[in-house]
Amino acid sequence: MRQGITGRSKYVDIKGGGIVKTNAKKVAFISDVHGNSAGLEAVLQDIEHYQVDELISLGDMFIGVDPRGVITLLREWIAEHHVHFTGIKGNAESYLLTPHREQLPEYGLDWAEPVANIVDWCESRLTKEELAWIRSWPLISRWQNACLVHDSPLDRIQVETASNPLLRPEHREWFFHGPGIAHDLSAVAQEPFFAYMEENDYAYLFCGHSHQPFVYEKAGRVICSTGSAGASLDGNWRPAWVLLDTSLGGAESISIHRVEYDLTKIYRLIDENPDYPSLMERPGMAQAFKKWYTTGYYWAVFIPGMLPDFELGFEVEDIE
Ligand SMILES: [Fe+2]
Repeated sequence: MRQGITGRSKYVDIKGGGIVKTNAKKVAFISDVHGNSAGLEAVLQDIEHYQVDELISLGDMFIGVDPRGVITLLREWIAEHHVHFTGIKGNAESYLLTPHREQLPEYGLDWAEPVANIVDWCESRLTKEELAWIRSWPLISRWQNACLVHDSPLDRIQVETASNPLLRPEHREWFFHGPGIAHDLSAVAQEPFFAYMEENDYAYLFCGHSHQPFVYEKAGRVICSTGSAGASLDGNWRPAWVLLDTSLGGAESISIHRVEYDLTKIYRLIDENPDYPSLMERPGMAQAFKKWYTTGYYWAVFIPGMLPDFELGFEVEDIE
């Protein structure tokens, strides 16, 4: 298995993004904003305090209630602060760019039609030029001595086996949602990722996707998840971002930051977009979304009967 990973990863690095050369000393990482422009605004304001040389987005930025606000804010902030930007596609960007998306429900995948509707809604709020910019982002890339990927390098180099076999081959690489790297892996479960890093000479692996920030370290190599800069899933509602200081080494070089923001801004975005397909899926979705952003627990927790085995352990009042 390790032989196959080594061979493919070299190919994907070249095909997917090449090598980014930069002299950046302080770097901010964000990911998984999921259309929450209010959360992203607070994160970017916090990043301003650290005078970073570079901003790296690890994907899943635009699928959510305010894709227009997110892309406008992101591009204006990059231009205003003269910060080098590197973008990596997440599964949500891949959905956005999937060809023949209207055919996906034909494959009988129960999640395909709802997701396709959400993606259509978000795509209609972005310009062709903005979509072309997003298309230019790779799925995986080498940055200095770091691997940048949204979910997991092993997902990305094994897409043909990891993705849903019901999909046509031309859709598999795009319309793919793997588990990524989770926050609670045992040392044994972390091992394939560290082996990949060793074989490819990476000191760092930065990822997102889990919406839970964490750092794993082994023998000087570091795996870091940025968490979510807008839609946390770790029971902490505060959006997260990560600062890398390349003048330091190992896990010492990384700090995870959480920021508070005015939640009424995201409540308003939810109320202003009642036709966002997720909000129309079933009664109570707007409340469930608001409670997600208020608690850092996924919206399904707040729909009665949807996750019967999950116990939140506290009450959340309805939100106006
Ligand atoms: Fe993701």
